[in-house]
Amino acid sequence: MKALITSGGRGTRLRPLTHTQNKHLIPIANKPILHYAIEYCVEAGIKEIGIVYSADSTAVPEAIGDGAHWGVHITYIPQEAPLGLAHVVKISQDFIRDEPFVFYLGDNMVVGGLKRFIDAFEQSNTNCHLTLAKVKDPERFGVPEIKDGKIVRIEEKPERPKSHFAVSGIYIYDKSIFEAVNNIRPSARGELEISDAHQYLLDHGYTISYSEITGWWKDTGKPYDLLEANRLILDNMEENIHGEVDSASLVTGKVKIEPGAKIINSTVRGPVIIGRNTVIENSYIGPFTSIANDCRIKNSEVEFSIILEECSILDVDIRIEHSLLGSDVEIIKAKGRPATHRFLIGDQSRIELL
Ligand code: G1P
Repeated sequence: MKALITSGGRGTRLRPLTHTQNKHLIPIANKPILHYAIEYCVEAGIKEIGIVYSADSTAVPEAIGDGAHWGVHITYIPQEAPLGLAHVVKISQDFIRDEPFVFYLGDNMVVGGLKRFIDAFEQSNTNCHLTLAKVKDPERFGVPEIKDGKIVRIEEKPERPKSHFAVSGIYIYDKSIFEAVNNIRPSARGELEISDAHQYLLDHGYTISYSEITGWWKDTGKPYDLLEANRLILDNMEENIHGEVDSASLVTGKVKIEPGAKIINSTVRGPVIIGRNTVIENSYIGPFTSIANDCRIKNSEVEFSIILEECSILDVDIRIEHSLLGSDVEIIKAKGRPATHRFLIGDQSRIELL
């Protein structure tokens, strides 16, 4: 079994973070989103991974490397233009050859990994195994119509969805998917749709099985989506404390403190992760917060937030909540007169004041 992972797309919905970073490299619980996909594959025993990336940027190959770090071999497949997910599969045929494979959309996350789906596919004797998640807004996704426990139709972003399920971004195929992606035509938006490839399979006598999943996340365009992914991952992480916690501090719940981090006279209430060499002093860090490496938080309170590396939050009187800070951001108390708020903010940032 091989794996094919996507890492393209412009990430416009996650601006401003994606002005400087591919969305697949944004960290959730201090680890790039794409690492989760790779680690799920590794956990499932997959050794050969293909990563499809937008040909106009080498950020992903540079950040991820050849896979040796995970004991796998990664092949990079450039996609010249965003022509759809079925196009991603189509251009990867030389890499996959005749083997069954997992197709994984790199901006999806799923608690519990992939192994159970691969097992279900192998036991099902079908040509394609889909993972379905119950959602409130199926019209944003590929949607199956199910009759007597069987998928009978799949539509991409239908106005009137035939079920409450979304087809999530984890698919398992045998080689028949190549016949499908080589025979479908571009949709109205000019893309080869993966749902059309699935419908092709159904129309041509191939079989599709499915698993229902919970604990699935993907960016659906809500501004604080990443916080939700962060909550999901932190809730399921294992705790361990490598950094220093002084005797005046109180650390409770699921908390991961990485080496070199220091907690001084502070309260940390998990689930929380605190990165290497970050210093938390006279502060409160509340549930569902990820703080990356080399940050300084002093005389401040932070909860339900993602703070990327090298940020400083110093002497801020109001609790910072529901927030996402990119790298090297400073939030500090304004000193001197006049007593005003002062901003230096990049494009497409957002500030909410009391
Ligand atoms: C794509 C697929 C859709 C699927 C979704 C899952 O949508 O086209 O069928 O349900 O991924 O992540 P997109 O994210 O490209 O809108």
